[in-house]
Amino acid sequence: MEIIDNINTNWARRIIVTGGAGFIGSHLVRRLVQRYPNYLIINLDALTYCGNPANVADVADLPNYRFHRADITDYEAVAAIIKQYNVDGIIHLAAESHVDRSISDPFIFAKTNVLGTLTLLQAAKDWWSASPDGFSGKRFHHVSTDEVFGALPLDRPELMFSETTPYAPHSPYSASKASSDHFVRAFVDTYGFPAVITNCSNNYGPYQFPEKLIPLFINNIVERRPLPVYGQGLNVRDWLYVGDHVAAIDLVFHQAANGASYNIGGFNQWSNIDLVRALIAEVDRQINRPDGADLDLITFVKDRAGHDMRYAIDSSRISRELGWKPSLDFEEGLRITVQWYLSHKEWMDEITSGAYREYYDKMYKNR
Ligand code: NAD
Ligand code: TYD
Repeated sequence: MEIIDNINTNWARRIIVTGGAGFIGSHLVRRLVQRYPNYLIINLDALTYCGNPANVADVADLPNYRFHRADITDYEAVAAIIKQYNVDGIIHLAAESHVDRSISDPFIFAKTNVLGTLTLLQAAKDWWSASPDGFSGKRFHHVSTDEVFGALPLDRPELMFSETTPYAPHSPYSASKASSDHFVRAFVDTYGFPAVITNCSNNYGPYQFPEKLIPLFINNIVERRPLPVYGQGLNVRDWLYVGDHVAAIDLVFHQAANGASYNIGGFNQWSNIDLVRALIAEVDRQINRPDGADLDLITFVKDRAGHDMRYAIDSSRISRELGWKPSLDFEEGLRITVQWYLSHKEWMDEITSGAYREYYDKMYKNR
């Protein structure tokens, strides 16, 4: 213990970010290593199909950044990393995150999202409870989704998810995330474990894996491929720029009381079909195609099974208590996002030419 402490005493904090090679995790890692040069940031990621070291390449050489390829379901591996750095904070984002995949293969979602979270909780609890100051000064931040609250009807626009909305997940993905939230809460209530939870709405921005709506459709518009809109495109999502999400995580990690949970959202609801039209307009504008030239790519396909109708987050609590609010309006966020994908074609090509393409083809071949 002494040797470990000596190695790590120069860092004000030693924080593991799980899933730091994924979409949101990479933005969080970038923010933390740049904003807190006195913190050691340890990116723990298994590099599954959507984990990509290129997402954090621009900060990988900074002195306060470390990377460990490890699986969060592997207790020995996780415990060894926690011990090696005498970690005092964990921000947990590693997950299986795509609803469509959870419909075709729910087991990996239970394994990663439920058992993986439990493994991390147990490893952190074991190390922290054996340390001289116990849970004091420690923090486990669990990053979750608004999808745990189920779905809202279209005809009751006044309804939104608050922190006290009962959990009612519908998809295997949201069921696994809900279960992981319950385990975090159980650790708080049972052991006094120093955890917080955030539940965020749909994110968009650079480095999102192109199986998700916005990057997939930007790429398809550029390539003049069909845009598969599920059902009639009437489902509504509340979109938040990823940079605003990681700013909220930073705030909650540092300032929230143990056991607290905060909802994070953009107050920015769009039906899928309106969003797709706005995306086509923005891409066409940026690549100098005539306005509406690509509207013909919209292709209505079989609806997603159990497709949640509407998500909408009431994020007034985090605004009121911690002073957070979204910094970008959607028009600006979409402009930046489209620009990023257009100017990072090699990032996209590396993904779409690989294993992802096989998955993509298999998934859509019957539609
Ligand atoms: P992502 O799919 O882009 O990235 C997930 C990362 O986790 C990848 O780097 C992957 O390699 C890693 N990972 C997967 N299984 C692992 C394992 N067993 N061990 C270690 N690493 C593993 O996901 P994302 O969209 O960045 O989402 C991150 C987190 O935020 C997830 O927990 C998700 O539920 C939550 N969230 C996402 C959104 C969204 O709109 N994307 C919204 C709210 C909450
Ligand atoms: P997605 O990006 O998968 O996020 P989530 O399912 O977590 O909300 O999908 C966003 C919305 O877009 C969702 O209502 C499903 C819909 N969608 C399509 O219509 N077509 C697609 O090809 C994809 C990937 C999603």
